[in-house]
Amino acid sequence: MQFSLFSATLASLFLSIFSLSAQVEKTKKINFDIIPRPTKIIHQGEVLQWESDQLNIIYDQELYDQADHIITFFNERGITITSRSKQTLYLSLKKNEGNKESYVLYIKKDSIVIKANYPTGISHGIATLQQLVLLNKNQDKIKLPIASIIDEPRFPHRGLLLDCARHFFDKKTILKYIDLLAFYKMNTLHWHLTEDQGWRIEINKYPKLNSVAASRIEQTGEIYKGIYTQEDIQEIVRYGQTKNITIIPEIELPGHSQAAIAAYPDFSCTGEEVSVANDWGVFKEIYCAGNEQVFKFLEDVLLEVIDLFPSKYVHIGGDEVPKIRWKNCKKCQKRILENNLDGEHELQSYFISRIQKFLNANNREIIGWDEILEGGVSEQTIIQSWRGVKHAMKALESGNSVIMSPTSHAYLDYDLKSIDLKKIYLFDPIPSGSKPEYHKQILGGECNIWTEHVPDEKTLDSKVFPRIMGMAEALWSKGDKNYEKFNSRIQSHYNILDEFEINYGEEHIPILYKTLFDNNSLYLQLIPGGENLTIAYKRDISNANMIIYDSPILIDDNCKIIAQAYKNKRHFGEPIEIPLAKHKGLGKDVDYMTQFNEFYPANKNMALVDGELGTLDFRDGNWQGFFGKDVEIIMDLGTTTSDISQIITNYYQYSNSWIFLPKSIDIETSLDKTLWIKDNFTEVNPIQNPKSRKKEIAEIRIKAKNKFEARYLKIIIKNYGKVPEWHEAAGSDTWIFMDEIQVNHILEK
Ligand code: ACM
Ligand code: ZN
Repeated sequence: MQFSLFSATLASLFLSIFSLSAQVEKTKKINFDIIPRPTKIIHQGEVLQWESDQLNIIYDQELYDQADHIITFFNERGITITSRSKQTLYLSLKKNEGNKESYVLYIKKDSIVIKANYPTGISHGIATLQQLVLLNKNQDKIKLPIASIIDEPRFPHRGLLLDCARHFFDKKTILKYIDLLAFYKMNTLHWHLTEDQGWRIEINKYPKLNSVAASRIEQTGEIYKGIYTQEDIQEIVRYGQTKNITIIPEIELPGHSQAAIAAYPDFSCTGEEVSVANDWGVFKEIYCAGNEQVFKFLEDVLLEVIDLFPSKYVHIGGDEVPKIRWKNCKKCQKRILENNLDGEHELQSYFISRIQKFLNANNREIIGWDEILEGGVSEQTIIQSWRGVKHAMKALESGNSVIMSPTSHAYLDYDLKSIDLKKIYLFDPIPSGSKPEYHKQILGGECNIWTEHVPDEKTLDSKVFPRIMGMAEALWSKGDKNYEKFNSRIQSHYNILDEFEINYGEEHIPILYKTLFDNNSLYLQLIPGGENLTIAYKRDISNANMIIYDSPILIDDNCKIIAQAYKNKRHFGEPIEIPLAKHKGLGKDVDYMTQFNEFYPANKNMALVDGELGTLDFRDGNWQGFFGKDVEIIMDLGTTTSDISQIITNYYQYSNSWIFLPKSIDIETSLDKTLWIKDNFTEVNPIQNPKSRKKEIAEIRIKAKNKFEARYLKIIIKNYGKVPEWHEAAGSDTWIFMDEIQVNHILEK
């Protein structure tokens, strides 16, 4: 019995859909809101109203799987497949050459024809037919247009990375996602199977991967366990084949491997026992690169992996590899010496290239995260670019093909403030400014759903939908983009997602906001994140009732505004908290001697003087990040001022994400930006508690020692230094995160 996405309970709705002869209606509107938008739709203007409960299907022998799926689809809607029907659906292959995924779909008065060069194209034609049927069902009838659709994708690689290691999703969920990918013409499930927090693929030769590495003890003391047996995997891979979804396994190495090391401690540099990680982050226990047993282990594992996965590609990870263990390991250092390697970066390259040679000898190619470029890779390696586009550009120049999944557009674990449907829809995998001769090396893209904060299927659905539909269209459809039209097609799909029982999330954040300045007054403007939204708000967490927002709110003191959006009188999204600061530096010019990091720009040059403070969510858009360096910023107050009594700056601390409080904060003052006075303020050294795993905000107040005159303030912030020894990512650079430079002329109460 094959799994099917479409609920049989709905079958009764669809009884009597096809009649003995199709009636042609000219008046009823047909819905063509297919996602992704096809290359060409030629509509003959007529609409068929099929009113039969029978359909004949004729298909080429090689198309058994595709026929089986469409038969199931119609059966579940009460249609009997019988050769006695006057209506026939033809599935036919043309020539097994040309574009692998193109198809044509003809809907005529007595037949529907799907033709393609390859079975994959037939699958896409079926997805289009299914969408037309579902978009045009009308109580117990189906209308179809007399039309021709000619279609092919813009990019050959269109995928979803599903992290089943941080959280485990059962076989049923994986099969459902294969259906959904096929329905939206994606063609790859990138299956992330091994991590610090769990190993999820049964390997016969190493039973402790099952008995030890697949379980973790949560901080609550509960055991969290999950593994796919080889039988499960065979079933999933086979099901993927019937839907023309390639499943690419990812076996992470040399990093993100603490779970395997918990099972087999000899494979780490120290040999010390560790537990399967029960926290999120990057961990320093990685495979020892000087130990031959490690390579034997990985080769054994990969042999079982390639037996299970026919995919030409195996993803070997390669991202986020702290090198501290290698630095201090005799075996690793010996390997570096013997192979004439230039330090640990080249040792990583040695590691990857050994695994690559092994896989190549077994007829497979590798895909790796863009870090693997660091020590050089062979030209056949496919690079999955995630850290912006600059690594992709480097890969293209080195002749490598690239899969684009930049954190800026493709990370579905990020919230809507960073990545909403519109942003994904407008994503162009071809980096602007890249040379046209490189474009054919850009294979396409993937959206990634990392599941640290996705504990269950409901949350998964809400993060993936509807945004993945934006990616599906960005990767498939050619030609000009129009978000309004796309969004209107999205609206048509919500009924379908309801029918599939998908717990989809929102398209965009409910509320945007910005501060406005008028002379010395500060206002907060609240902006609906989309159409038909009303916003209500109140000050602080009081019992006061919310009031409807209609114009910018005057902010006369530091406070917190709570705002909630409504659509059709119902809550739209969660309430948001906006902490604000009124101070003398608002809107002043700020000169960055140290540039903020491109991934955490917040409100760019205004970030530290916009009155907007950060919350405990360090991705809330108010925290500005500086990576691995000291920070120096000069603020111009515009005129010489004599009433500055204190400067308040907040810093974020979250050691899991390598964000630490600075070592020191000092302030110098100047009248002319040339002569700087050091002793109007005393340097402050924040009390460090780096081992805390909590997300915390430290407020640092620096009071003036004297009354003084100044026009310029220089804030000098010293970085914590490297991630400390005890930390999983020991030796890496650290972040400074700050939200505002509050220049306060009121002496604190
Ligand atoms: C990644 O997000 N670490 C590839
Ligand atoms: Zn080692």
